[in-house]
Amino acid sequence: MRAIEFQKYGGPEVLKVVQAEPPSPGPGQVTIDAAYVGVNFADLKARAEGYRVDSLPFRPGLEVSGRIRAVGHGVEGLRPGQEAVALVNSGAYAEVVVADTTTVFPLPEGLDLRTAAALPTVLPTAHALLHEVGRLRAGESVLVHGAAGGIGTVAGQLARAAGAGAVYGVVSSTAKAGHALQHGYDEVFTADTFSDDIRRVTQGKGVDLVLDPVGGDTLRRGLDALAVFGRLVSFGNAGGAEPWQVGQPELYAQGRSVAGFSILALAQSAPEALRSLTERAFRTVIDGTVALPITAEFPLSHAAEAHRLMGGRTSTGKLLLRTTD
Ligand SMILES: NC(=O)c1ccc[n+]([C@@H]2O[C@H](COP(=O)([O-])OP(=O)(O)OC[C@H]3O[C@@H](n4cnc5c(N)ncnc54)[C@H](OP(=O)(O)O)[C@@H]3O)[C@@H](O)[C@H]2O)c1
Repeated sequence: MRAIEFQKYGGPEVLKVVQAEPPSPGPGQVTIDAAYVGVNFADLKARAEGYRVDSLPFRPGLEVSGRIRAVGHGVEGLRPGQEAVALVNSGAYAEVVVADTTTVFPLPEGLDLRTAAALPTVLPTAHALLHEVGRLRAGESVLVHGAAGGIGTVAGQLARAAGAGAVYGVVSSTAKAGHALQHGYDEVFTADTFSDDIRRVTQGKGVDLVLDPVGGDTLRRGLDALAVFGRLVSFGNAGGAEPWQVGQPELYAQGRSVAGFSILALAQSAPEALRSLTERAFRTVIDGTVALPITAEFPLSHAAEAHRLMGGRTSTGKLLLRTTD
């Protein structure tokens, strides 16, 4: 089978097509003949700087859809030939992917394999950021960074569906604003001016909930943009800054909270919680509350092009790889 791996960290060009033996499932695992593979920003971070890479060579990829090829010892409720979608810890950039059954889902009725491959990371994550962690209430205002990307496209629609009073987005360039405005956002600002913009549109009051995948100075400015009793959820470090620390001075006076979320860490620590979160989140696509447009699709062997597109910060919505040429 073919897979995509890198032997050293670097630009998209380090992604190479390799021939490998198809894996066999261990106990509690299945293998999946992949049809589509989702591209995530975390894949770029792995390739460029070793984020979540234990050793080299490394095969990136966190989500896959396809047909179950084989089931390992002790697996119940899944069978070869069944269509499924899975979140995996790594290794989805391949024609055959191994997945722990705790994060394998029979293809939900009403979804096709292409649509489903785009969902396992961003959809439950956006749901958790707004609801399980961010505890959004109807009428509250939300600010989402990376508003035109995978998470951002879903978060805008989910926030609107939850009855948010205002949904604000932040993007790196005005060219992406139109995409965000079509996916639930009331207003979209650019990263350089967002804190002034929030002050202006909220008449100095601030927003109730900030979703921050960037970290560093952006996280600090996001905290300053919070209203009294506001919450900030950190879920990434796209800016590459040192890990953040927040203490009494930033929190006490205004009753602010800071929380965090990682879907991959949740998959390890509380797989049952992840399963029910994912099932709740899938329902929002099945019932038409949320649509995640796939704006570009590449053959698996052209994974580097997908990385170039996302790394160039011009992509919107979701990027996919397909295993057919
Ligand atoms: N914690 C979790 O469970 C979890 C799960 C999935 C994703 N994430 C995080 O959520 C974010 C979006 O992920 P995605 O896969 O949906 O990707 P994406 O949004 O489709 O594309 C990458 C995003 O990163 C932003 N970006 C790129 N370089 C940046 C930089 N140097 N500083 C600030 N922003 C930068 C881009 O926004 P602009 O160009 O508009 O700034 C773009 O929206 C990523 O940070 C990812 O790590 C976290």
